[in-house]
Amino acid sequence: MTALYPGSFDPVTLGHLDVIARAAHVFDRVIVGVLHNPNKASGAFPVDTRLRLLGDAAAAYPNVAVAAYAGLLTEVVQEARADVVIRGLRGASDVEDELAMARLNRQLGRVETFFIAASPEVTHISATRVREIGRLGGSLRGLVPETIRARVEAALLS
Ligand code: PNS
Repeated sequence: MTALYPGSFDPVTLGHLDVIARAAHVFDRVIVGVLHNPNKASGAFPVDTRLRLLGDAAAAYPNVAVAAYAGLLTEVVQEARADVVIRGLRGASDVEDELAMARLNRQLGRVETFFIAASPEVTHISATRVREIGRLGGSLRGLVPETIRARVEAALLS
């Protein structure tokens, strides 16, 4: 079974990598899809940079692929030939919005969403906070994958 893990990944964090690693154990194939969130600004990292960072962060998982998509998630699921969508849940504040999105995607395109409960060590991490800390010169150790940390820190400071 192929799972599509959609998100902004601006940039990929250890929270995202937790979901990717665990999904890679459960599904035959995982496609990490960089998509535009219409409720967010255009983004800090260009899409090709996000793809490279994701590819490097997930390099240890041979059944994980990374790609960029545009448009409605229900159409992206078809284009990617995915069977299901996966999303991570950090806590109660994620639940309402994620359930609405899952229900809308089921109504729009019969797409089923599977949720992965984020590991407790990463539930406080968000890409928004990572960008904020990095832009102010803070260390991103323990917040983004170590293999890409220096690149993310340098890009956020420039
Ligand atoms: O990481 P994010 O920003 O929480 O991811 C949100 C994302 C990109 C998955 C969501 O905004 C999305 O699915 N965008 C594609 C457009 C779409 O289908 N919108 C309707 C969702 S019900």
